[in-house]
Amino acid sequence: MLIVDKYILPPSPEHFLILKYILILMLMIHLPFVSMLIGGTFFSVVFNILDKKKQNRIYLNFANDLIDTVAVNRSVGFILGVVPMLVVTLIYTQILYTVNVSAVNFLIYSLILLLLGFTSLYFYKYTFHLREAVFGVHIFSGILGIIFFLAAYFIFSISFSLLLDPGEWRFVKNPVELISYWNAVSKYLYFIVSSLAITGGGILFFFFHWSERKIDHDSEYSGFIKNFGLILALIFTLLQPVLCLWNLATLPEIAISQEVFGFSAIALFLSLVISYMLCAMLKNPEKKLGVHIFSLFLLTFLITALNDQTTFYNTIKEHIVLMAVRAEEPSSELKIRELTGAAEEAQVNVKKGEMVFNSICSACHSFDRRAVGPPFKMVLPKYQNKEDELKTFVRNPSKKNPGYPSMPKLGLKEDEIASVAAYLLQRLQTESQKQDISK
Ligand code: HEC
Repeated sequence: MLIVDKYILPPSPEHFLILKYILILMLMIHLPFVSMLIGGTFFSVVFNILDKKKQNRIYLNFANDLIDTVAVNRSVGFILGVVPMLVVTLIYTQILYTVNVSAVNFLIYSLILLLLGFTSLYFYKYTFHLREAVFGVHIFSGILGIIFFLAAYFIFSISFSLLLDPGEWRFVKNPVELISYWNAVSKYLYFIVSSLAITGGGILFFFFHWSERKIDHDSEYSGFIKNFGLILALIFTLLQPVLCLWNLATLPEIAISQEVFGFSAIALFLSLVISYMLCAMLKNPEKKLGVHIFSLFLLTFLITALNDQTTFYNTIKEHIVLMAVRAEEPSSELKIRELTGAAEEAQVNVKKGEMVFNSICSACHSFDRRAVGPPFKMVLPKYQNKEDELKTFVRNPSKKNPGYPSMPKLGLKEDEIASVAAYLLQRLQTESQKQDISK
């Protein structure tokens, strides 16, 4: 089993770093696009219905221009929408390939919902010219598209929060059980709020600065769109900081590091700068800040993706370290030291000790039963707080217990001896604590 694992994917910390940056890149391509797609489709449907009720040409034009702008065409939808999610799912499966994580299954559900969402949405877009004839079906496909998308990202943020909490990995089979996870809820709301904010920013950018779609600046239509984009962007940009802080407050402790605080602070700051620019544009309609605002929105998405990946990486670090040890790369120890702080080194050492125990000592020893050698529960207590003596014995066993043969010299490396001694003494402590409790 171990050998097979090794040839499928030699897991090394560098490997994970590369995967991490690919993940960030993919989310960076995918999320802004799909956020505007959701926001744009939503308002396209709303104005489409409004036009039907009030017969206002401005509403109809806007509904049509909006869906054309955000959905572009099917190939762009496939490249920016579907491909990155496929890659993300594959990468998560790779990273967690030794752990049986239901989260990866959820990612696959969310991929399926996403495909359904794209299908409905492009149906909506391509039936726009048939709108008078098939209004019901046309509107329904738009609404269905939005629902599929919202469901897809709901499951996506749940599975992401689930990945952040490895303690729960094994227990959760059903996504509904996780609704109580405030972190998932805050992530999801942050996603929706950011989608609506960047939709506003996208309207300002694509309708007024993007050459393909530039509209006549002095028309009534232009004034309407500009105000709509500004107010939409402003309301939801002002909500972003609240959710950003909420997300921070609900993160599991193990996921938090200094970088996480740093990225959150940058995201907060960007929201404030964007809000300030939007206000400036509202006050003075002559100001043209659309390009800046949209770029800052993209930057906010990048920072958020970095932040999310950092929390994820913090959480699985231990898992990675274990895999590195298992891969037994000659230089793995150095990398472990780079990856983890000195404080964690001891813990890593104990993990390594566990591997030495499982692969070598367990051939002759059990903790509580007699085997070739005596049970550790019986012989270890005399080494408590005397790790050095234990190391000396393992390095060079001498005759000790009557009724047992001698223990052979094992020829272990010095660091293997140290780690197995640390592991055994720690294990002895936890075992005796367990017994105290059961008594
Ligand atoms: C080939 C079998 C074998 C292997 C492998 C083995 N041991 Fe032992 N071990 C023994 C035997 C036999 C004894 C009893 C020796 C004696 O009492 O003289 C023993 C005794 C011990 C004792 C008790 C010493 C004492 O003071 O009573 C410790 C501690 C110990 N082994 C640790 C280890 C550790 C750690 C490893 C793995 C790195 C290991 N052993 C691997 C056979 C083995």
